Amino acid sequence: MRTLIKNAQVVLPGSINHVSVLIDGDKIADIDAPIQTTADETIDATGLYLIPGVIDDQVHFREPGLTHKEDLLHATRACAKGGVTTFLEMPNTKPATVTQKLLHEKLDLASRRSLVNYGFYLGATPHNILELKQAHRTPGIKIFIGSSTGDLLVDEQIALERIFSETTLPITAHCEDEATVRENAARLKGTSDVADHSRIRDHQAAVIATRRALDLAFRHKHRFHVLHVSTGEEAKLLMDHRRLITAEVCPHHLFFNVDDYVRLGTLIQMNPSLKNAADNAQLWQALLDGHIQVVATDHAPHTLIEKQQPYPLSPSGLPAVENSLALMLNCVHQGKCKLEQVVHWMCDAPARVWDIVGKGRIAVGYDADLVLVDLERRAVIRNEEQQTKCGWSPWHGEELTGWPVRTWVLGHEVFREGRFDESQPGREAIFDHARGGYWATA
Ligand code: DOR
Repeated sequence: MRTLIKNAQVVLPGSINHVSVLIDGDKIADIDAPIQTTADETIDATGLYLIPGVIDDQVHFREPGLTHKEDLLHATRACAKGGVTTFLEMPNTKPATVTQKLLHEKLDLASRRSLVNYGFYLGATPHNILELKQAHRTPGIKIFIGSSTGDLLVDEQIALERIFSETTLPITAHCEDEATVRENAARLKGTSDVADHSRIRDHQAAVIATRRALDLAFRHKHRFHVLHVSTGEEAKLLMDHRRLITAEVCPHHLFFNVDDYVRLGTLIQMNPSLKNAADNAQLWQALLDGHIQVVATDHAPHTLIEKQQPYPLSPSGLPAVENSLALMLNCVHQGKCKLEQVVHWMCDAPARVWDIVGKGRIAVGYDADLVLVDLERRAVIRNEEQQTKCGWSPWHGEELTGWPVRTWVLGHEVFREGRFDESQPGREAIFDHARGGYWATA
């Protein structure tokens, strides 16, 4: 099947050009194709922008084991609608992905159920170093250096030293200091005020754990990616990245802060917790300045019934994969950043951080994972329209300008203006770690 997309403004590496893009099978076959080029389908994309598909490097899709909250079909419909063509999923499913066997079972499941491309992290435990050393077909190792949903936790120094010194895959981590969190929780014992979530999982908890992880990475010269940075102070630590460290920020840490608990309560309870308006501003600046390279969601759905339990029974996490691109396009509309920057943070940078082959850019020979976006379209996020199985969004009622309208995964149009074509599954992403990550590639 050959598809010719004409008349779009195409976000290419380094420039936005008014050129055609020819898809042949699953690849981008030509850019600015000769006028006489023919195709099975020709699309007039006048007024729209064509961008590479978004790669979300931190999601929790809950399959296997927690499928009452989310499953691969609903989650990847949400991806297709949101312009996300590849996801990398975290290991805190049930069972947790802590062996090669369980990793391969997840890959097998996704090959049948996922509408978009996929990869799965291997989770670290204090005792699975052999699995971590042998792992392949994975973007890398995930460590919970502070506990969150599930029971994955590695916070003993000896175990962390071994993981950083003996393994070779890139490492990523949830950084909140367990001792600080426990101490704060003991002090605030008995609270039912969700605002205390940000006092229990406070600035210090995040900063101490990130500092500790950076120290491990620097001493062992191990590639390391800091997940969901939530404080301005961590962003300052990242300025001294020494070409080994990359980092990510999530929309909720950019756009919500502790003042929003009054309005949204436990819906915006997540780990790391929300911080202050000053942190929002500092995180945004760190993104603009290149100290944080990636925007990803930490899509972590729980049912509304679960979320509406009184704090602290309410679980942490919120869904976002469906709206993350639109939230960032809305920032383009507001003049806070440029479309090219959004494409860098959400497409090219994650491909480079995780050494993903053939993705993240519109270039000849790259996979035809593509999204048409309408920068003028205004629409309100509505719970009733969410594809995620949990069926709600913390941004319900918010109007955004700038939306994805059509999505191709490997040349197959999986989403078009509210309709899905589920006839073709996505494919396993290929990781070539010999590339050396973000700083080694341009
Ligand atoms: O709030 C969170 N929820 N943070 C995490 O790191 C995990 C996630 C979940 O899986 O629910």
